Amino acid sequence: MLGNFTYCNPTKLYFGKDALDGLNEELPKYGKNVLLVYGGGSIKKNGIYDKVVAILKANGKNIFEDAGVMPNPTSDKLNEGVERAKKAKADFILAVGGGSVCDYAKAVSVSVHCNDDPWEKYFIRFEEPSCNIIPVGCVLTMVGTGSEMNGGSVITNHSQKLKIGHVFGENVFPKFSVLNPEFTYTLPKYQMVSGIYDIMSHILEQYFSGEDDNTSDYIMEGLLRSLVHSANIAVKNPNDYEARSNIMWIATWALNTLVAKGKTTDWEVHMLGQAVGAHTDATHGMTLAAVSMPYYRYIMPYGLKKFARYAVNVWGVNPDGKTEQQTAEQGLAAMESWMKSVGLVMNITELGATEQMLDGITESTLIMDGGYKVLNKTEIRSIYQQSL
Ligand code: NZQ
Ligand code: ZN
Repeated sequence: MLGNFTYCNPTKLYFGKDALDGLNEELPKYGKNVLLVYGGGSIKKNGIYDKVVAILKANGKNIFEDAGVMPNPTSDKLNEGVERAKKAKADFILAVGGGSVCDYAKAVSVSVHCNDDPWEKYFIRFEEPSCNIIPVGCVLTMVGTGSEMNGGSVITNHSQKLKIGHVFGENVFPKFSVLNPEFTYTLPKYQMVSGIYDIMSHILEQYFSGEDDNTSDYIMEGLLRSLVHSANIAVKNPNDYEARSNIMWIATWALNTLVAKGKTTDWEVHMLGQAVGAHTDATHGMTLAAVSMPYYRYIMPYGLKKFARYAVNVWGVNPDGKTEQQTAEQGLAAMESWMKSVGLVMNITELGATEQMLDGITESTLIMDGGYKVLNKTEIRSIYQQSL
């Protein structure tokens, strides 16, 4: 049965080859001082920076830059960004980059006018913003996180060895996002594939929870089938517009809050992956891939019916003459061999984790209670052990 919910997604999307023109419609709505936030320089190499700056200038904006947002943005960088935004008297923040840049822009937006320490307020105490929020817009260049149409913001604190996400409300969602699939063509294959698995994981985190006959599950099975199909094409030909545009659109729908409505969700794979990330700074999607198979094989008996359904409806396993368990196992085997075929990292050793780090990583792992089995720390450590 669907639970009660409120649904509103305020982010306006501009999608396609001309999507950047949307900036001309959006920018006049906001003040003159624009903080242009971006990462380590990919947008300068591929020409997106020049295009964005030209549009900002044509719209009469004063441009203040905040560059160097690293993958897995840190609390130190967040503090620096807050100072920059204050100095610029920013009226608007334009994030041009991937999930890290977009997440970071949201974190800055809720911190500039708040006197508290942002890490403590939002990522330790999980408080809601109690101050003015600077509006954010996003030009997306890397696909996976869904940050372009949600309130998520994930920040890493290296000294505390914690990587924590705060899911903010609608007031923090980007006001608009520009989604041009061609902007993702210059992504290295490693990042493209990592993003593809991030999408898959977002869907599975919401799918593997609950026993209801829920419309969201049918939507998610469709998204997963389209994702696998498009990923197989994109891995062979990264410039296939149809495949890349489908992947971009699936990423947005996987985590723009729609499919989670009215149902419970898990998110333990993300907690496992984020703890690995806090200790290794590894690429987000790869951390999820590296822990997924041991996790799903472990919880499968507790959600057997759903795992068997997944095998049939997503991976095309024929259930005839098989027990539910055999069908479910074949589904996970099909998933595993697909993961290997697209080039995902299947163990945390490759990401820099060692056996000596496992106690610390286990310590940093948050425990969720929405999946088929609430894990204890011994079980979590055992999953990491099997992921080495
Ligand atoms: O920094 P630059 O030079 O731009 O390079 C980036 C970065 O090195 C590069 N890149 C991005 N677009 C490119 C490109 N290189 C060439 N051409 C392009 N068009 O790709 C690298 C990775 O970028 P990043 O933004 O870090 O990747 P992603 O989009 O996967 O974001 C990861 C962050 O998002 C968080 C993750 O934890 C991680 O911190 N997440 C955010 C979520 C949310 N908001 O809801 C949910 C997710 O589960 C996730 O946790
Ligand atoms: Zn993710």
